[in-house]
Amino acid sequence: MQMQMQRMENSVSLPAKVKMVEVGPRDGLQNEPGQINTQIKIELINRLANAGISAIEAASFVSPKWVPQMADSAEVMQQIERKPGVIYSALTPNLKGFESAIACQVDEVAIFAAASEQFSQKNINCSIEESLQRFEPIMDAAKARGIPVRGYISCVMGCPYQGEVEPGAVVSVAKSLAAMGCHEISLGDTIGVGTPRQTKAMLEAVAGELSVEQLAVHFHDTYGQALANIYAALEMGVAVVDSSIAGLGGCPYAKGASGNVASEDVLYMLNGLGVDTGVDLEKLLDAGNHVMQALGRRSNSKVAAAMAGY
Ligand code: HMG
Ligand code: MG
Repeated sequence: MQMQMQRMENSVSLPAKVKMVEVGPRDGLQNEPGQINTQIKIELINRLANAGISAIEAASFVSPKWVPQMADSAEVMQQIERKPGVIYSALTPNLKGFESAIACQVDEVAIFAAASEQFSQKNINCSIEESLQRFEPIMDAAKARGIPVRGYISCVMGCPYQGEVEPGAVVSVAKSLAAMGCHEISLGDTIGVGTPRQTKAMLEAVAGELSVEQLAVHFHDTYGQALANIYAALEMGVAVVDSSIAGLGGCPYAKGASGNVASEDVLYMLNGLGVDTGVDLEKLLDAGNHVMQALGRRSNSKVAAAMAGY
């Protein structure tokens, strides 16, 4: 009995602190069917910062032909209030995007690759290898300006076009991104198919080559596995978790991908686990309710629904 208790205690050793990376203004709103008013985006970002989120992916400097929802990214970046201590970041697929991002003072940029060849082609119109080459000039320019770069890997546990994705494919891209100088690698289950055991196997493989401190997890909740997967990742020592306010999101190039895991739900779980985030749940709920009111829909966050009584 005593041994069993001890094993349980050992199995729940979690990071004391987690950085919540809010991707709703980008990963969430990029997937909305209509054009979202720029002022709604700005208000959302300001409210997220006021809730205590210290890393907000606020914009995306991709081709507006590919993702028209993000076409007002420069206006968004120029008009948000900059709260000291908050990192406001943006996606940049190429040098053109990087230069646009820098022109409006982003604090950090993110490049995005995939562990699946077919997804890479559909999402950024090139192979994995070509995408890594395309990132080189971004890395050089970022280094010259002292801008930190985050690297995303999509489809780490499954691909909408190719099906299964082996952990080895994730490891190979993660190693390349780290070698290029990405300070953080966000591992994305783009279509939300992974389960906790698979999450652990994938993380074990990547952590065999890179330091776990460098890793972030990015779960979409398509199959309702996101919180369980996050818990599994926390047990593996991952202390950076991406989430999206009100569970907004999806991916325009991954049919069937539902929203990202809701930030409110992640925070509720982390609060319950006694993990420090520096984020205020009431204020986060307020940010979520505000944006959902503007969008004219109910939140995808279970916590938001429970607290609002619907
Ligand atoms: P392409 O068509 O192969 O590239 O697109 P191109 O160089 O031929 O450019 C085509 C046109 O786009 C040109 O304009 C360029 O100037 C313009 P035209 O001459 O035809 O008038 N263009 C740009 N305009 C503004 N900003 C730019 C830019 N670049 C080119 N930066 C490209 C290649 C990568 C640009 C395109 O495929 C693209 O923008 N893809 C983005 C797709 C995307 O944003 N997907 C969603 C984000 S990823 C995601 O959600 C997953 C993630 O959340 C993690 C997860 O869940 O897995 C991160
Ligand atoms: Mg995503």
